[in-house]
Amino acid sequence: MSVVDQVSRRRTFAIISHPDAGKTTLTEKLLLYGGALLEAGAVRSRKNERATTSDWMELEKQRGISISSTVLQFDYDGHRLNLLDTPGHRDFSEDTYRVLTAVDAAVMVLDAAKGIEAQTRKLFEVCRRRGVPIFTFVNKLDRPGREPLDLLDEIEKVLGLHPFPMNWPLGMGQDFTGVYDRVEKRVHLFERTPGGAFMAPLEVRDPSDPAIKERMRADDYARFMEEIEILDGVAAPFDAARVAKGDQSPTFFGSASNNFGVQLLLDGFIRHAPPPGPRLSLAGPVDPRSPSFSGFIFKVQGNMDPRHRDRVAFVRVCSGKFERDMQVTHSRTGKRIRLANSHRIFGRDREIVEEAYAGDILGLVGHADFAIGDTLSSDPAHVYEELPRFPPECWARALNTDPTKAKSYRKGLEQLMLEGVVQTFESPTGPILAAVGPLQFEVFKFRLQSEYGVELRMEPLAWHSVRWVDAEDEKKLLADLDVLPSGAQAGKDAAGRAVIFFPTEWSVGYFAEKHPDIRTTALSPLSRPADARR
Ligand code: G4P
Repeated sequence: MSVVDQVSRRRTFAIISHPDAGKTTLTEKLLLYGGALLEAGAVRSRKNERATTSDWMELEKQRGISISSTVLQFDYDGHRLNLLDTPGHRDFSEDTYRVLTAVDAAVMVLDAAKGIEAQTRKLFEVCRRRGVPIFTFVNKLDRPGREPLDLLDEIEKVLGLHPFPMNWPLGMGQDFTGVYDRVEKRVHLFERTPGGAFMAPLEVRDPSDPAIKERMRADDYARFMEEIEILDGVAAPFDAARVAKGDQSPTFFGSASNNFGVQLLLDGFIRHAPPPGPRLSLAGPVDPRSPSFSGFIFKVQGNMDPRHRDRVAFVRVCSGKFERDMQVTHSRTGKRIRLANSHRIFGRDREIVEEAYAGDILGLVGHADFAIGDTLSSDPAHVYEELPRFPPECWARALNTDPTKAKSYRKGLEQLMLEGVVQTFESPTGPILAAVGPLQFEVFKFRLQSEYGVELRMEPLAWHSVRWVDAEDEKKLLADLDVLPSGAQAGKDAAGRAVIFFPTEWSVGYFAEKHPDIRTTALSPLSRPADARR
């Protein structure tokens, strides 16, 4: 198959959701429909048994969390899907956000009873900034939930995203009988399978078929007929260009645990989600179908196998064909490097990868120089923009309890910075650490202790947020620090850019209002849309 064909059949995406909305269940069902699992259960058992069976990261074992990332690859209907796991839940961290810089689309899972929740919103914001197309799956329709029209309204109002219902549920809770495909104008009636372990058998019928009316309660049926009429009357038409920009969201209803609506989601997804597009390099957009290989590192995971102290750099392929043993240029050092240890990684299972194309993820083992944001390419002119740093929400000061270990501490800190485990800032009272989620501090402390023998005491700090000062306005701020609201302080990030630490949300808003001449941003200024598609 040519590079062009390989690229056009690929879909690389992540599932974003709030804990318990059903991400694990849906992942499993996608694999089931992709033929990658004969019976659902494998992903869940991985989630549940993590604490007992994983031996590749002690901290994961102790806490039952997932720090190491997972990439699932499966085929469906002639397409190759790469599903990137976004560590979430208790292990929410900057890595969660970084994964989203490597995908071309996202599936947002909502719990029908809860609607938009806090974590969904944060992840959505990151996708929105990149202009990534978002598909919505409203899950758990088999349980009593909120009115579907109400949920659409919430998506629109809270996220400013315009849902386009691709299908519409018939009944809800106990009475959930299937969904109506608004595009094909067919009703899909489902049967429940024991525990949802097998693909749900389904019957496809015309909406006017009396069998549908018979299977539904009279009031549900009347409401359903009324709703689809309302939708046809008021909903904006499906618009592929708006979907591609992340403005309109194809929305599906279903129940992952019962396999209701999963296949319709997959079919709609491969049809409307984009294949890998051109990505912006410093020299302009790079066509994914160009023959020359390029990719960027979006995650570095150290200590995946403590026996070997190995590090895995996760590379998103952006163009050309990757072949094992090929020579590439490493952007940060300018060195030519042979890529021999290329793997496909699922948890602790590894498989050698011989070739890969745009959209695929490679795990490269054993390159100490590789850092987040680095480019690997056969044409040295292809260098991708650095990845953004995401706004931290947790703050701490790290104190080395043993001064004789100062050198080890510096070495460890340097290494963990390369891996982006935490961020560092200079504040008027000395260096401070920052993270998107508290787990990052735990990993930092744990790894310094286990890999460098350094014991740290972590003192939490109570900052609310940090804002980067626009480079042109830096001088104005430094000339008059009295402009800062009470409790706020000026500082610098690791690259020496001016920042302001704010104690409360209120003070952020107050400052913006009082000093519009000193512009600030919540995301480090490097972050520009990574996609040339926008
Ligand atoms: P997460 O990865 O987003 O955290 O969610 P996960 O899939 O683990 O699902 C969270 C809970 O919601 C699980 O129940 C799961 O079975 C349930 N769930 C997922 N999809 C559906 C659905 O379509 N309908 C219903 N009714 N429930 C659903 P649990 O009690 O936490 O675990 P378990 O008893 O299933 O092991």
